[in-house]
Amino acid sequence: MKGILLAGGAGTRLYPLTLVTSKQLLPVYNKPMIYYPLSTLMLARIRDVLIISTPADTPRIRELFGDGAALGMHISYAVQEKPEGLAQAFTIGRDFIGDDSCAMILGDNIFYGNGLYHKLERAAENAGKGSATIFGYYVEDPQRFGVMELEKGIGGDEKNIRVLSVEEKPKNPKSNYAVVGLYFYPPGVSDMADAVQPSARGELEITTLNDMYLHEGRLQAELLGRGFTWIDAGTFDSLRRATDFVYMIEQNQGMAISAPEEIAYRFGWISGEQLAESAERYGKSPYGEHLRAVLEDRIVL
Ligand code: G1P
Repeated sequence: MKGILLAGGAGTRLYPLTLVTSKQLLPVYNKPMIYYPLSTLMLARIRDVLIISTPADTPRIRELFGDGAALGMHISYAVQEKPEGLAQAFTIGRDFIGDDSCAMILGDNIFYGNGLYHKLERAAENAGKGSATIFGYYVEDPQRFGVMELEKGIGGDEKNIRVLSVEEKPKNPKSNYAVVGLYFYPPGVSDMADAVQPSARGELEITTLNDMYLHEGRLQAELLGRGFTWIDAGTFDSLRRATDFVYMIEQNQGMAISAPEEIAYRFGWISGEQLAESAERYGKSPYGEHLRAVLEDRIVL
């Protein structure tokens, strides 16, 4: 399974913060925002990742992760010349995806919760069987997001949820379940994306793509229940909330979360020597110290 991390967009909602800097490189507490979605893809055991960003930001992101070897991964890069919609990622990534199934995560989406791994595993299994998977999260302001309408009586953490419709930023949402920015697709998603027509706001919407899978009876959904946190960190308020959230978790547990080098090491993708080298790169920062603690087995899980 391949993975696309979409870190494009002009980030106009965060001006002036993003006038000359990539949104996905802004700090979420103590790490660049992009560390969080990359960690989520890694938790899905995806080692082959294409990062898509703007012409200006791609070189900076490449400086950060290089070819991915330090993470035991293969990371490649592609440029989205203009932000023409999320579904465009699959046509830009056509050669990268090849005949594989593919997950996509948005570069400003932050996920945290025990058992996320199992949900990702199920989504990957669905993709292997020809179905796409989307994830729903209960929010107070669904009109700001893609929204999934569910079969009546659904709530909490059930499996095998039946989706009745998906709509992009509807004025009158049919539910409180936002479609979060993490999607799994079976082989052939680039061809499906070719057929997506621009929406009223002129974008190739991911929701249109999901609707196509729904109409073919090939769309599954999972809910991320109350034990999960999901934050789309693309506004001032949500960025602040993301920082507060990571700060609170890290202070409470006394250790870092979403550290890609730690995940790579625990999955056996990199050696202790490689982890030590990465720790050096981070110098005397608490992040570097965390990696040293992982290496020296000072963190008992
Ligand atoms: C995008 C999608 C939307 C989804 C959201 C999740 O919206 O279009 O369906 O719910 O990401 O973060 P955007 O944040 O680009 O407005």
